[in-house]
Amino acid sequence: MNFSSAEPGYILGIETSCDETAAAVVSEKGEVLANVVSSQHDVHRRFGGVVPELASRKHTEKIEEIVQEAIRLAQITLSDVKGIAVTQGPGLAGALLVGVSFGKALAYAQNIPWIAVNHLEGHVASAWLQQPNLQTPCVILVVSGGHTHLYFVPRFQEYRLVGRTLDDAAGEAFDKGAKMLGLDFPGGPALDRLAQSGNPQAVRFPRPYLNRGGLNFSFSGLKTSLLYYMRDIKKNAQECVLADVAAGYQEAIVEVLVEKTFRAVRRYKVGAVAIVGGVSANSRLRVRLAERGAESGVQLTIPRIELCTDNAAMIAAAGLWAFHQGEFASWDADAKANLQTQILHTMKPNHQKAVNQ
Ligand code: KG4
Ligand code: ZN
Repeated sequence: MNFSSAEPGYILGIETSCDETAAAVVSEKGEVLANVVSSQHDVHRRFGGVVPELASRKHTEKIEEIVQEAIRLAQITLSDVKGIAVTQGPGLAGALLVGVSFGKALAYAQNIPWIAVNHLEGHVASAWLQQPNLQTPCVILVVSGGHTHLYFVPRFQEYRLVGRTLDDAAGEAFDKGAKMLGLDFPGGPALDRLAQSGNPQAVRFPRPYLNRGGLNFSFSGLKTSLLYYMRDIKKNAQECVLADVAAGYQEAIVEVLVEKTFRAVRRYKVGAVAIVGGVSANSRLRVRLAERGAESGVQLTIPRIELCTDNAAMIAAAGLWAFHQGEFASWDADAKANLQTQILHTMKPNHQKAVNQ
């Protein structure tokens, strides 16, 4: 099975790893023809976080409609689709199962392959959707709700994990910080909005691991600093400007992310860097990265906002790479909630060894 030049082909992407039901269509040239995301934020808001059972139920209700909408917006028919790429993991087991079961069944009925995509490789692929000429070697930072992984990418699709969080992910630090400030779910974007009216220098929080831990990160201590700061304010009946606290806290996360990423750029002597995943939607992070990118002269890629947070265009894009390599999933392959997060399957054996150490 292959795309032929006479007949245009498309990859349908499906993403249901957490609380977004998403479907997208990408052409063989990597153009995004449709990118539909149905968010469940309203369902989970009153619980202050994602409730896994509710997430799976909502995916089940929405998936067919969202896939049909993507096909309609792309102005194609199902018979134009040459492969269906689905997030296999990591993520919430029940939520992943909805996308995988739906995608597999549809692929089987259409007699086309299904492609199992690692959610992290999807985020990485979003860098190439944004910047098809993204050079290698490069450094890629994946910052999401579950991951803070820094990769050295010597060649296209070869990833060497060179730094990671030792405890909380950056997205978790945003979400938990937002909760302590009494902000609504989802916390990251709410904290970002509040911080826009604050002074990032008014309250200084520690920069965890800035000068130690090599290229690794740690955010749990920062979270504790915020907890103590808020507790002391309350205990002493002091006033505080919440926007300043949010801006100071955000600044600490952003500074560490930017510094470590550019440290990796220098260490691996690369001329390009990309930042992907939900946290790369953060407005302050985007500004600071742009400043550092301009100073250092490296090629900087940050996907447009709709490609930063969970979406199916990135899954279709990673699926397109796999399609061209004939990497089709077997019919008995299933969702894998704990799928290796290091994207091992595309790494050379010596790099696998480095990651496992
Ligand atoms: O990639 P993503 O959509 O889902 C995962 O794979 O986890 O990332 C979600 C994370 C959440 O922690 C969310 O709060 C954070 O990305 N996030 C943000 C912003 N938008 C999303 N964090 C800070 N500022 C934002 N604007
Ligand atoms: Zn994600």
